[in-house]
Amino acid sequence: MRNLSQLVAMKMFRDPAYFEELHWRSWIKSMPKISVSEQGNSEFARAWAAADKVEGWLDREQGLLLYVLARQVSPDQDIVEIGSYKGRSTVVLASAIKNTNSVLHAIDPHTGDGTPPHRLGIPVDTWSEFKTNLVNAGVAEKVDAVRDRSENAARHYNGKSIGLLFIDGLHETEAVLIDWISWKDRLAPDSVIVFDDWWRPPVSKAIMTIESYLPPRIGSLDKELVYGPARSGIRSE
Ligand SMILES: C[S@@+](CC[C@H](N)C(=O)[O-])C[C@H]1O[C@@H](n2cnc3c(N)ncnc32)[C@H](O)[C@@H]1O
Repeated sequence: MRNLSQLVAMKMFRDPAYFEELHWRSWIKSMPKISVSEQGNSEFARAWAAADKVEGWLDREQGLLLYVLARQVSPDQDIVEIGSYKGRSTVVLASAIKNTNSVLHAIDPHTGDGTPPHRLGIPVDTWSEFKTNLVNAGVAEKVDAVRDRSENAARHYNGKSIGLLFIDGLHETEAVLIDWISWKDRLAPDSVIVFDDWWRPPVSKAIMTIESYLPPRIGSLDKELVYGPARSGIRSE
């Protein structure tokens, strides 16, 4: 006769979902942290002041990371942002490439899918506010604003090869996988990929699934996970 804990252990060890859960938890825990230096990025304060006027979820630390990465994109490459909402991250990224030949392709259907009002069934249309925010921040000419879902936009993409891909669309496993699959062949060999809200289970489970196809991991902030070659100003802790 087996005791209760033996029965519980047997059930756990026969259930593959239990092992997946254990693997996922240790993956999250083992994630290396990074810190981002503001040194040499004296223009960032101005970019952040403009971005901070735009409604959204991006905090200053995330903004600095995006700014530092965007500044290091080569002029023969472009940047793609999946998920712009009202343009908070768009303003940071576009400000960083203001004096270069790179373009920021900012992709969003502007229906707010996955955002709190949308989840409550309230219709969302961020398009005109997004465009106004770019003009107010003085970055409209650096942004190719694409009102479409990421997978459709990828099919029609005719920009340069991508030096920085920022994935901040729908935070669901299938959506993150589709974002990656849609854009992976457009990436430059030295490109950097940033996943927003990576710690959310649906997002991290998608990243775990594709991690062996990604470039080396640089590390994480609380809300961003970065893959690609080493970049100056970003230090592993
Ligand atoms: C978290 S918000 C983006 C926040 C923005 N990066 C910022 O800094 O404020 C997520 C956005 O993803 C967009 N989205 C949802 N599904 C998408 C898809 N398939 N392709 C592109 N964008 C999508 C939503 O419309 C929403 O505006």
